Amino acid sequence: MIRKAVLPVAGLGTRMLPVTKVVPKELLNIIDRPTIEYVVDEVLASGIDTLIFIISQGKEDILNYFNVDLGLKTFLKERKKWDLLKKVEEVEEKVKNIISVIQKIPEGLGQAVLMAEKTIGNEPFAVLLGDDLVDAKEPCLKQMMQVYLKYEGCIIAVEEVPLEDISKYGIIEGERLEERIIKIKRVIEKPSPQEAPSNLAIIGRYIFQPVIFEFLKKIEKSVGGEYQLTDAIQLLIKEGYEVYGYLFEGKRLDTGNKKGFFKTILHYAKKDEELKEVLKEFYQEFYQVNVFS
Ligand code: G1P
Repeated sequence: MIRKAVLPVAGLGTRMLPVTKVVPKELLNIIDRPTIEYVVDEVLASGIDTLIFIISQGKEDILNYFNVDLGLKTFLKERKKWDLLKKVEEVEEKVKNIISVIQKIPEGLGQAVLMAEKTIGNEPFAVLLGDDLVDAKEPCLKQMMQVYLKYEGCIIAVEEVPLEDISKYGIIEGERLEERIIKIKRVIEKPSPQEAPSNLAIIGRYIFQPVIFEFLKKIEKSVGGEYQLTDAIQLLIKEGYEVYGYLFEGKRLDTGNKKGFFKTILHYAKKDEELKEVLKEFYQEFYQVNVFS
């Protein structure tokens, strides 16, 4: 079974500059929690308890967020702020096994995943990208683990995207096996809409067998001058390994750009009773519209 999840969080977050000059994009908050916590929650809810963060210099606060802060705890205890203490402890106790690997110079997702090779060893593992949140009844990764049990190949979460967004993603070509399962014949990183074989985009959830590392060592820099994970997956397919696309159930939220980030905040705000009221007042005041009625 899958016991380890790799979270590549070394990227520079240029799409969210200037704030990412000083705040790692994974720590930008959706309401009162950093985006990375939503991803960590998905991993834990899928039954995986070992998290491998691939980080780069300046992004250590991502690890600190999950670490014990004795000073803060003493401060809150002395002031009898029990509710706040509970919130802090909940986060600190969340992840039992954190491993961090430093990617000295971030040169792409392909290189980041390769950094996990020694820690993973010879077992299947998951990769989750911090930009992509999936709000689902059953965690997206857990759904994928069930697909893995049946198909045993590499499993990639995919979803349909509008034509104008195709060039932002890895795109797949394949043949439908079941309502939600596609046998992938080709993957291509960030194609133009003209060269794209479909509108099915890879989102940031993967299950790999350790053989992927062999192919990650063979790829060259490509799109954006970076080592692309998608290129290694393409080599895997070419060598006859089975790769499946999985149309997951749930709502994917892309926090990696300004528009998507804002939409994510609205998505979670409307699920929160208190904030839902704020949204209601906002629409009433500015647009004279009565929402959620
Ligand atoms: C990465 C992958 C891409 C995938 C995307 C999902 O791109 O390279 O194949 O579709 O994540 O978010 P990035 O967003 O890092 O440019």
